[in-house]
Amino acid sequence: MPGIVLIGAQWGDEGKGKATDLIGTKVDYVARFNGGNNAGHSVVVGNESYALHLLPSGIINPHLTPVIGNGVVVDPEVLFQEIDGLEARGIDCSHLKVSEAAHIIAPYHRTLDKVTERFLGKHKIGTTGRGIGPAYADKINRVGIRVHDLFNAKHLHDKVEASLHQKNQMLVKLYNRRPIDVDQTTDELLKLGERLKPYVANTGLILNKALDEGKTVLFEGAQATMLDVDHGTYPFVTSSNPTAGGACTGTGVGPTKITRVIGVSKAYATRVGEGPFPTELFDESGEWLRQQGHEFGVTTGRPRRCGWFDAVVNRYASQVNGLTDIVLTKLDVLTGLKEIPICVAYDVDGERHDDMPTDQAAFAAAKPIYETMPGWDEDISDCHTFEELPATCQDYVKRLEELSNCRISAIGTGPQRDHIISVHSLID
Ligand code: IMP
Repeated sequence: MPGIVLIGAQWGDEGKGKATDLIGTKVDYVARFNGGNNAGHSVVVGNESYALHLLPSGIINPHLTPVIGNGVVVDPEVLFQEIDGLEARGIDCSHLKVSEAAHIIAPYHRTLDKVTERFLGKHKIGTTGRGIGPAYADKINRVGIRVHDLFNAKHLHDKVEASLHQKNQMLVKLYNRRPIDVDQTTDELLKLGERLKPYVANTGLILNKALDEGKTVLFEGAQATMLDVDHGTYPFVTSSNPTAGGACTGTGVGPTKITRVIGVSKAYATRVGEGPFPTELFDESGEWLRQQGHEFGVTTGRPRRCGWFDAVVNRYASQVNGLTDIVLTKLDVLTGLKEIPICVAYDVDGERHDDMPTDQAAFAAAKPIYETMPGWDEDISDCHTFEELPATCQDYVKRLEELSNCRISAIGTGPQRDHIISVHSLID
């Protein structure tokens, strides 16, 4: 009954897509449990690179069943664009299962995301503008539209009316925009529902049965620990729970069925959008990391903010997710550096913090305390075992492992699928 959760240990973009796809060759189901098309996975297979936002990255593997769980917010238009794009390249998506309880991102959620950010001005979150926050806000406010609502015209009309009642007042009176038409929105959603229907299923039941039958399920998190609405750098977070607990609430599978929690972490750190980032580099080393690591968003194309590895963040990720393993990605990006700083603790107003401060004001004021390790010059992309890595590179990995309170079980050494060193199996 292996239930494996795979999550981001930092601020996202850790290379989870590659890790998911790699483990995905050995699993039967890959289930996404949070977020929506704010995510961006690049999956490289042979010479082809696939950019996915909403579909589970395991979709490219024909032997497994991809699942979009109830915790995901689904923009049907984006879903169909991704399906059409993959099918045009010969990848069959007909085996996709979408939870009937997942919430829908309607066009008005996208509108609201953009106008709200504009209205917030200097207090903006730097969202992806995909309607994620407004769709989750409707879910919590109990005026959301769920997938199964799309199959009943009368019922859907009532729901859209209820949802737009207050929003239209806000759009007109506060944001000076035109109101959104209830009938037209209902018709658009009904059409999208027709196309969505063949994929819709009781995914909670399917996943629980699969686990009971001894099948392996990989729970794929989008975004990452530090963007979690409860455990991240609130308010500069996404609106869902990308931490391991979200795998249960976002799929309808109980915690006793989770056997492994794998955190994906880059060998350095990046962040997009606003919010505190203690190890951020504003000098040429930040630009160097950005160029070497191709740190530009898959979803928005925004340049990512870059910084050194933050062990306080990674220790916190081990704690809040109960990590059993870390997959360390993009170690090759650091090749060529003479010395590599690692943030081991924070200085907050003269006081040392080895653990994540819960007060966001303290986190915003945190100055990194660095320890420096020697770098390496050798190309590591052809290393297939840990022992083949240059000695200083091995030392760097061992130190990260020690500081993160979790073993490093796989190491990414390049963009290709086989550019990975497996230290401990991730599957048994
Ligand atoms: P939202 O998820 O669009 O509401 O954006 C909230 C915050 O999460 C912003 O800072 C985004 O840049 C960030 N964010 C959302 N999705 C991702 C992701 O997949 N990777 C990294 N950052 C993300």
